[in-house]
Amino acid sequence: ASQTPSSSILTSLTANLPPLPHVPGTEPSRCVLDSFRIAIAKVVADALPELTVEQVYTGVDYGKKGVDFTIALPRFRLKEKVDVLAKKVLDSFQPNDWVEAVVADKAFLHFTVRTPTVTKLVLNQIHELTNNTESGSPEYGINSTGKGKKVVIEYSSPNIAKSFHVGHLRSTIIGAFLANLYKACGWEVVSLNYLGDWGTQFGMISVGFEKYGSQEELEKDAIKHLYDVYVKITKDSDADPNVKIEAAKWFKRMEDGDESALANWRVWRALSIKKYEEEYARLNVFFTEYIGESTVGKEWQDKALERLDEMKLIDDHEGAKLVNLEKWKMGKAVLRKKGTSTSAWILPSSHPIKRLPYPTLTPTLYRSFSLSLTAFYLLLTVLCVRPLDGTSIYLTRDIGGAIERWEKYQFDKMIYVISSQQDLHTSQFFKILKLMDFPWADRLLHVNYGLVLGMSTRKGTAVFLDQIIKEAASVMHDQMKKNEEKYNAVENPEEVAQEIGITGVKIQDMAAKRINNYNFNWDRMLSFEGDTGPYLQYAHVRLSSISRKNPELLPLPPPLEINTSLITEPSAREIVMLLGSYPDVVKTALKTHEPSGVVTFAFRLSHAISSAWETVIVKGEKDEQKAKARLWLYLCARDVLGAALRLLSIKPLERM
Ligand code: ARG
Repeated sequence: ASQTPSSSILTSLTANLPPLPHVPGTEPSRCVLDSFRIAIAKVVADALPELTVEQVYTGVDYGKKGVDFTIALPRFRLKEKVDVLAKKVLDSFQPNDWVEAVVADKAFLHFTVRTPTVTKLVLNQIHELTNNTESGSPEYGINSTGKGKKVVIEYSSPNIAKSFHVGHLRSTIIGAFLANLYKACGWEVVSLNYLGDWGTQFGMISVGFEKYGSQEELEKDAIKHLYDVYVKITKDSDADPNVKIEAAKWFKRMEDGDESALANWRVWRALSIKKYEEEYARLNVFFTEYIGESTVGKEWQDKALERLDEMKLIDDHEGAKLVNLEKWKMGKAVLRKKGTSTSAWILPSSHPIKRLPYPTLTPTLYRSFSLSLTAFYLLLTVLCVRPLDGTSIYLTRDIGGAIERWEKYQFDKMIYVISSQQDLHTSQFFKILKLMDFPWADRLLHVNYGLVLGMSTRKGTAVFLDQIIKEAASVMHDQMKKNEEKYNAVENPEEVAQEIGITGVKIQDMAAKRINNYNFNWDRMLSFEGDTGPYLQYAHVRLSSISRKNPELLPLPPPLEINTSLITEPSAREIVMLLGSYPDVVKTALKTHEPSGVVTFAFRLSHAISSAWETVIVKGEKDEQKAKARLWLYLCARDVLGAALRLLSIKPLERM
């Protein structure tokens, strides 16, 4: 899919334009604005022979409002003063089919590219890469910088039988975006959902299930039922300490691989995954593989401990093993729970202490008898109890898990999308892997994000993913019903409401920098006004409806016969420049791992389109050639807005 199109329309369109040198790292057949930047770089390098085209190219930036491209002269650190340099460029400048004009403004040179050229090239490129691709899917905006490279991205990673909180939702949304983004940049992407499917809570649920479990409920909604069981048994355990003891024993059996203790757990896990898969599909989110804390083998967890011990990085604390990372200001972290101290010794339920009554005896007899009895009990205790040594923990599993993933995938990069609340945890296990001298340890990347406050539904706090999806759909549905006429015209209002609702949730989540905290607010995110998801869907629907509303202009002639030089309005030009910048938006996002840049782009484009509606009209335009050119501009805008939304994991709507 990421093959550079060789015999593109662009080649024939640029054949009669002034020739341009090749600049490494540019890809004009995928981002035609690269050609304009090269043309500008050439203008400057021709005027200032001490600079090469390549050097100047690195300094060609997008200009501020109203300016296409800008170069800040001081960045080249030349001997001559900037005004002398600027004058040289201005004096030798000859407008050509690429570059229309240059003006100097203090240390800056501002360039304007030629409107008919840029309009024709940008629209043709969008059209070609959207419609006539070898892969059969739209390709405008993608690039091949990641060709031959593999990235593993872990995201979502909820805990079975616990609530799906907003932290998991953010990880899901940001992770799905990153998976799309890396694919768009030519990478092979392996996406992993690392379930919290192991740990002492499964001992609790096992005990709870014997008391509260229902096969029927389980099959109806495994996620909800297991959560309910967990809540109930946790309550019981507050009153009765035996519950926890039973649970720990059960989990120990699980860790030892006792099939009878694992059978139920296997079913729960499978049913939970099934349910999650359905919900992720509604969110347009997918995984290559579901793994989990349970799938991490013991071998590497043990070896890690050994290796760190040899490196004298392990402290023994009452039998617990701690890795000491204080040298790196990462504190100490438990790698293995205490195994031999009494608190971890568990009494089997049939322990004789419970059964034998103390006899009533005279004080002296009692004392000697009691002493020997105590000794006897102690002996029994030693014989009957088993230490809980070796039950693995979160940090150790992450170390072992990373090593196993390396062995399996040999990735060029591995990304963990985890909340910033786990910054310390993540830096600890990254550090430990480095200390263990794994050469690939510096290929790991933590993409973190801030907190979301107050995700609740009208019925109370949301604890499950499907509650969030349902609430988004129903709040949106109510919103749509307010406009009865419009509502009645929608064919499938429920589906549309769900899609717009989900868009609202996602856009609110990705609109600001990841690290920012934000307040979850249904009203704000689901309004059609302001910078919201519904607003973007509305913009896309409006663009999609334009061909339905102008059937007499269809089918449009082949692209080369559309007279794009009739598109001259400043607001149309602004749209063209924005459309042309989309491939750069994608590249920047890959550097920053910030979806917000793509969201901002989608808003800027939608705003530019809505300000063009009044002046750049299609319906009512008497010059048919002009009407067709404009229609084509809007259709290209639809394709690019659609591409940006899909990159954000959103399904663009055609009607609403
Ligand atoms: N299941 C964990 C939680 O809910 C998140 C897992 C993050 N990934 C990891 N490799 N530690 O907190």
